[in-house]
Amino acid sequence: MKKIITYGTFDLFHKGHYNILKRAKEYGDYLVVGVTGENYDVGRGKLNVHDSLATRIENVQKTGFADEIIVEEYLGQKIDDIIKYDIDSFVIGDDWVGKFDHLSKYCNMVYLERTKGISSTQIREETFDQYDVGIVCDFVDDNQIVKEAKLVNGFEVKNVYSDDNKILNEFKERYGVKNTFDDYDAMLEESDIIYVHCATVERFNYIQRALKAGKHVLYDPPAAFSSDKLMKLMELSKENNVILMENTKMVHIYVFNQLLWMAQGGLIGDILSFNCSISKNDITRSNLFYDLGAIALLPMLKIMGDNYDHFDFQVSKDGDNIEFASMNFVYPKGRAIINVGNTVRVDNQIEIIGTGGTIRMRGDWWRSKSFELHTPGSSDVQLFNTNFEGNGFKYLIRDMSRMLSNNRIDSKSIFEEESLKIVEILEYIRKERYNND
Ligand code: CTP
Repeated sequence: MKKIITYGTFDLFHKGHYNILKRAKEYGDYLVVGVTGENYDVGRGKLNVHDSLATRIENVQKTGFADEIIVEEYLGQKIDDIIKYDIDSFVIGDDWVGKFDHLSKYCNMVYLERTKGISSTQIREETFDQYDVGIVCDFVDDNQIVKEAKLVNGFEVKNVYSDDNKILNEFKERYGVKNTFDDYDAMLEESDIIYVHCATVERFNYIQRALKAGKHVLYDPPAAFSSDKLMKLMELSKENNVILMENTKMVHIYVFNQLLWMAQGGLIGDILSFNCSISKNDITRSNLFYDLGAIALLPMLKIMGDNYDHFDFQVSKDGDNIEFASMNFVYPKGRAIINVGNTVRVDNQIEIIGTGGTIRMRGDWWRSKSFELHTPGSSDVQLFNTNFEGNGFKYLIRDMSRMLSNNRIDSKSIFEEESLKIVEILEYIRKERYNND
């Protein structure tokens, strides 16, 4: 019996898929079809798949050509499958010519001509809503959103606004954004989603105007220096039925949710200590302390909660600039310390000590790909990781795209009370600091 194997995502099943399965089956007696698993697709950066794995399998099954359907879950699985299923020929469309030559050691490689004029990508582009994103910036930096948005169905950063023409021109040239605007209202008209990526003090105004204009908003936190103002924005987003979403990438990255699962689910016992450090040496950004603090406070609130008995802080300043700050939270059964360095360097890290183990996330933990778990009495360190290129923005955009298609404006990744608490803490520090000046 001649056994054949073929692979594909088979998203939005179309004629090209049908044809290749038919011809693959004709090539032998028994056909194994590998359908890519969701994690595998996400891992290799394919975030635009529309149909669920179950639907994609069902569509392959309906053709009647597959004798067996398997799920492709990891890089390199093809070699294991060829051996496991005792495959004679590997069949794939000729868009893959040359890519799988290394498999010819294991079986016969057959490249069949692709059906012309159709692909899942094309159907996705024609079928789904397109969202034009406009970015507000006061410096030439896109936070990688231009590149990362392209990886998600229907998203494109087309517009950029700044009140400085030099920035606009440089931005356009560097990131290839189509339209530049020095009039914010004009950009609002041309955009569906606004990404507010500018100085902390300017954000509230831009966000408010965008929400009032009925646009979805993504912003770098904190949105404002007062919880009243943030609450006002939250109300506006509800009144206008538009998304108001914080650009905090970590909560959209798979490995961070694994960490939360462990810490919140009691897998490392009772939590005694949460330690988090973050630093970035950038004297050009005023109020950087608040931006870094907002990022660092979120994992603390998620893991330790907000029922601390006592909070105090110390800041070290150079003129108006906070170069270092240490925040100290005493909880009924534990303690959290958050160190934020601006011009003072601290090692970026999160360390969570529980009665049953310690979790450590090293390096740039806010976009981390891994963490370590140390358990008492064992010298083994377990490593939990995920792999992706870039800074993780694509996962946030993918989640935003899901909210849009589900007609939902609240993100379950960050709760309103968490964002409000963060602004409250920062507001308190800011007021105290000015009072003490
Ligand atoms: N295929 C084909 N003819 C087409 C489209 C796909 O023969 N017009 C084949 C591919 O070469 C592959 C299989 O169908 O062997 C599964 O392809 P898949 O990547 O799932 O489909 P695409 O339409 O190419 O998807 P995308 O646009 O997302 O790359």
